[in-house]
Amino acid sequence: MFQLALIARAQTVFELGSAIGYSTLWWAQAVGPAGRVVYTDSSRKNADEARRYFERAGVARQVDIRVGDALEMLSEEKPDSYDIIFNDIDKEDYRRVLPLAATRIRKGGLLIADNALWQGDVADPNAEDAATCGVREFNQLLYASPDFFTTIIPIRDGVAVALRK
Ligand SMILES: C[S@@+](CC[C@H](N)C(=O)[O-])C[C@H]1O[C@@H](n2cnc3c(N)ncnc32)[C@H](O)[C@@H]1O
Repeated sequence: MFQLALIARAQTVFELGSAIGYSTLWWAQAVGPAGRVVYTDSSRKNADEARRYFERAGVARQVDIRVGDALEMLSEEKPDSYDIIFNDIDKEDYRRVLPLAATRIRKGGLLIADNALWQGDVADPNAEDAATCGVREFNQLLYASPDFFTTIIPIRDGVAVALRK
């Protein structure tokens, strides 16, 4: 992710589902002191813990911590305002990210989603739980979208990388 952010010369990142800020730290280091990363999580406890890590790592200034529903917060953002949008919320809600993200990533920017392989369950026709269906449908919508060129990179649990055309 750090490398992708550097390749995209990202200065603005919106992260959906940041937990204790591990991935946020990588975005923050990639965008550098002049960049901006929006951290979102529904848990205040997670956000408080993350804030301490950002301060210790010296990146607190470039991270905007927001607590609440990441989808709702993304819906309030202006069109074309992000170089990268990173999706890592509850898997059953993945499909809801696509229409919101599509207009808020600038052309040439990236929509990146973690857990795109979901332990391989997305390819198992017998796996029909809500999380698997959410990730599977997100992947299908992303590949079918004329707005994106998508590749799933099989690192760890799979990372979907979609270039906004
Ligand atoms: C897999 S963890 C995120 C891990 C983090 N991105 C990382 O790689 O270090 C998912 C987080 O998303 C949060 N979450 C799930 N659905 C959410 C939503 N709709 N809005 C905000 N936060 C959400 C959960 O509280 C949890 O902390």
